[in-house]
Amino acid sequence: MSAVLKDAPKLVRMLDSDLAEVLAIENAVYTHPWTRGNFGDSLRAGYQCWTWRLEAELLGYFVLLVAAGECHLLNLSVAASRQRAGHGSELLRQAMQLARKDGAQRIFLEVRPSNLAGKALYERFGFREVSVRRDYYPAHDGREDALVLTLAL
Ligand SMILES: CC(C)(COP(=O)(O)OP(=O)(O)OC[C@H]1O[C@@H](n2cnc3c(N)ncnc32)[C@H](O)[C@@H]1OP(=O)(O)O)[C@@H](O)C(=O)NCCC(=O)NCCS
Repeated sequence: MSAVLKDAPKLVRMLDSDLAEVLAIENAVYTHPWTRGNFGDSLRAGYQCWTWRLEAELLGYFVLLVAAGECHLLNLSVAASRQRAGHGSELLRQAMQLARKDGAQRIFLEVRPSNLAGKALYERFGFREVSVRRDYYPAHDGREDALVLTLAL
């Protein structure tokens, strides 16, 4: 029993002291990663910033903004070496649960059309596309659109 509990990852609030590890993952999994400043601002603004840890190992994290009955998933990432093992799905489930608890009835997020992993994950959960933000993201050669996806909670 204790072995099972020991092996289960846990959701732990993100602190400033996590940022070096968070940025190591962030820089490895995105072509245009968030900066330390982006995470610091999110922490100071009181957004829901959570890490997903197996013992001392950081597996992933998310940043969620809940306001006025809606929530926006601003970042959701899993360490490259830990992807395709269900952690992204579990983090998304946990984020939606927290949002529901805080009164959100709908979740929104943006994803690059080129992000096949992200799109496949959200599709599996039943997200649908509601709009496109033209030239939203920086890209290697210019800009890339953002697909705005949503799901009722
Ligand atoms: C998107 C991301 C969070 C998915 O995390 P993950 O831990 O690999 O997700 P899961 O293992 O729960 O995968 C769930 C499903 O998503 C889809 N998926 C995940 N990665 C995929 C990939 N590389 N290619 C195609 N489908 C993929 C599959 O349907 C997968 O189910 P399966 O493994 O049974 O086929 C992860 O790839 C990541 O951190 N990417 C970089 C950051 C990012 O793009 N975040 C989203 C920004 S909007």
